[in-house]
Amino acid sequence: MADIQTIYQETIKFAAEKHGAQKVKGSKIPYVVHLSNVAMEIFMAARKTHGFDLGYALQLALLHDTIEDTQTTRQEIEMVFGKDIADGVWALTGDPKLLKDYRLSDSLAKIRKCPREAGAVKLADRITNLQAPPKSWTKSHIRDFLYDAQQILKALHGANEYLEKRLEQKIAEYSKYSGE
Ligand code: NI
Repeated sequence: MADIQTIYQETIKFAAEKHGAQKVKGSKIPYVVHLSNVAMEIFMAARKTHGFDLGYALQLALLHDTIEDTQTTRQEIEMVFGKDIADGVWALTGDPKLLKDYRLSDSLAKIRKCPREAGAVKLADRITNLQAPPKSWTKSHIRDFLYDAQQILKALHGANEYLEKRLEQKIAEYSKYSGE
């Protein structure tokens, strides 16, 4: 197996090409910054977690939004990165065939069937997304986002202790934006 640096470089290159001109929601920041933030959380989690599969988790971190946000298919991911990675990215993808309200719980159920590192990536994703909300967001949108974060934390209990603690802290900090 390739070293971690090579895995990181090849995967972020693939993801950056796929996301193209996409920006982080409500900003002018290239989307790849979000992906690298999730990867950074994963590096920290790996340092704090015994027996953590860093190569697998990093690839999922960098690819987690490719199927959901770009034209990339599960088959293409499988061809380039193998079946385990494709299954993981698929689990991290909200199924567009489902009504919006059911997508998160469906995805969380799929994530729970994957290796624990897939859960770590979902936790890392939400940790990095719990920054100050864009000015355009209404209080009710902010509350929904907070509620989803709580659902993620609950459903993925046991996936990664370090990231669960971090998400718990981020949820507490973010509550101030919801006006509760
Ligand atoms: Ni994401």
